[in-house]
Amino acid sequence: MKKVTLKEKVVRFSISIPPEFLTYLDKLVKKGYSSRSEAIRDLIRAKIAEEEWKGEKEVIGILTILYDHTVKGIEKKLTDVQHVFLLKIHSCLHIHLTKTDCMEIIILRGKPVDIEKMVAKIVGVKGVKYGKVLKVAGVERLP
Ligand code: NI
Repeated sequence: MKKVTLKEKVVRFSISIPPEFLTYLDKLVKKGYSSRSEAIRDLIRAKIAEEEWKGEKEVIGILTILYDHTVKGIEKKLTDVQHVFLLKIHSCLHIHLTKTDCMEIIILRGKPVDIEKMVAKIVGVKGVKYGKVLKVAGVERLP
């Protein structure tokens, strides 16, 4: 198999943007990106993920929820919802934050509409104080 070099994996092009955009881009770079190119690649990846979440193909999402485990029946309800959507759950991390509050981080895979339905059911359970999905990216490889 032919080895692919970095030069063969990327293309160079020039773009025209207003100076304010360049100022903003350079502020992003100063926050931690290694270069303008990496900042632009990351912005494009975010846009790709956003667009994929509007489509029909499988995507990956990370759901973070915070809930009060002393609310009667809450853990059974949360578990029941996750069992209904069993095929879309890759992994679940549970953290006991305080004497009453728990945090769960659930990695989901599936069609955006199905993930959104499951998330709506989970965050709608009484006792869930916070719930948000990080729309990471689609299943297909991102460059
Ligand atoms: Ni807990």
